[in-house]
Amino acid sequence: MTSAPVRIGFLGAGLIATYHSKSLKGSGAPVVRAGVYDPDTARAEAFAAASGHHVVHSEDEVIEHCDAVYICTWTSEHPRLLAKAVAAGRHVFCEKPLAFTAAEAEAMAAHADAENVTHQVGLVLRYAPSYIWAHHLIHQPAAGRVMSVVFRDDQFIPIQGHYSSTWRADREKVGAGTLIEHSIHDVDMLRYLVGEVESVSAHTANFHGHDGIEDVATAVLRFANGAVGTLNSIWHDNLARPSLRRVEVFCERRHIVIEGDDWFGPVSWTDSDGTHGSLEGAAIEEAVAPMREGSNNPDGEFVRAIIERRGASPDLHTAVLAHRIVDAMYASAAAGGEAVQP
Ligand SMILES: NC(=O)c1ccc[n+]([C@@H]2O[C@H](COP(=O)([O-])OP(=O)(O)OC[C@H]3O[C@@H](n4cnc5c(N)ncnc54)[C@H](O)[C@@H]3O)[C@@H](O)[C@H]2O)c1
Repeated sequence: MTSAPVRIGFLGAGLIATYHSKSLKGSGAPVVRAGVYDPDTARAEAFAAASGHHVVHSEDEVIEHCDAVYICTWTSEHPRLLAKAVAAGRHVFCEKPLAFTAAEAEAMAAHADAENVTHQVGLVLRYAPSYIWAHHLIHQPAAGRVMSVVFRDDQFIPIQGHYSSTWRADREKVGAGTLIEHSIHDVDMLRYLVGEVESVSAHTANFHGHDGIEDVATAVLRFANGAVGTLNSIWHDNLARPSLRRVEVFCERRHIVIEGDDWFGPVSWTDSDGTHGSLEGAAIEEAVAPMREGSNNPDGEFVRAIIERRGASPDLHTAVLAHRIVDAMYASAAAGGEAVQP
């Protein structure tokens, strides 16, 4: 096992690249800041100045001089860049969505496996204490069987404000709208909280009129364990609502609500005997700490997996399963809402 620091390169130097760079620093993981490339040179320079990476002039230069590469570009570039990076034997952290379709995502996962590299996807809610605690509450025997879920996710359309970009209105770069770009997180959490999805029936709407970019998606999900639930995903123009989720889970003998902050809750619950509770902030992190396999930092865990020469979590295969459900929802919406199996 090597304990040499891992040389990290970045492809894309925008919002989420900055988030990962700060998170790597916060994790204390042993890394060397290698190259960053972004065709928007000003962005690359600002990122480099803030992070300690250095600007290089091509994708290939980043890949050549690192051990692991973060793919933080808009979605249309993910499959091509991942193919290049893994062909060169580099470990990859690829942002979600992996691609426009589940078939492409599957090919990406297969390629990364074939090259035997460590791979991770930016489905970060897998690390959120609020969702880990809700999962624990749902699966305690006292709750009984999970019966239903109401998952609502809304935000102002992210082509303004702190996003500082407009590519999410361009179907050539983003693929489609709120369902794949934002709510692939929610689909992943629906699988994590409730279980495997057997069939979906969905409708979409487009109020803003950007070609191919739905700004409302509503789906009914039938789960293999018998539960039935809904997902509502909305991109509106209410700038006072940056990104907000509210998840209600109904078990036979327990009701659970995740709201407030995506990470720190509160998560509240009420049982049939009238017992109730609520956890948030530091208390919820403390409660889930023994349930975690590693630390609470996805970037630190990615580096640790590389050093320990093993798989990371969540990996590209986790994303593929969410992609299949998203694809089924789009197919259902295109067919007027008929039930489709992922
Ligand atoms: N996991 C999350 O919660 C989360 C949050 C936000 C964004 N994302 C995802 O991260 C990705 C980037 O989103 P963002 O908000 O950071 O966008 P952004 O616009 O802030 O940054 C993207 C950058 O990629 C650059 N780029 C485009 N093609 C490139 C290439 N071939 N090589 C190098 N750089 C290239 C662009 O010039 C741009 O600066 C998207 O896939 C998005 O869905 C994930």
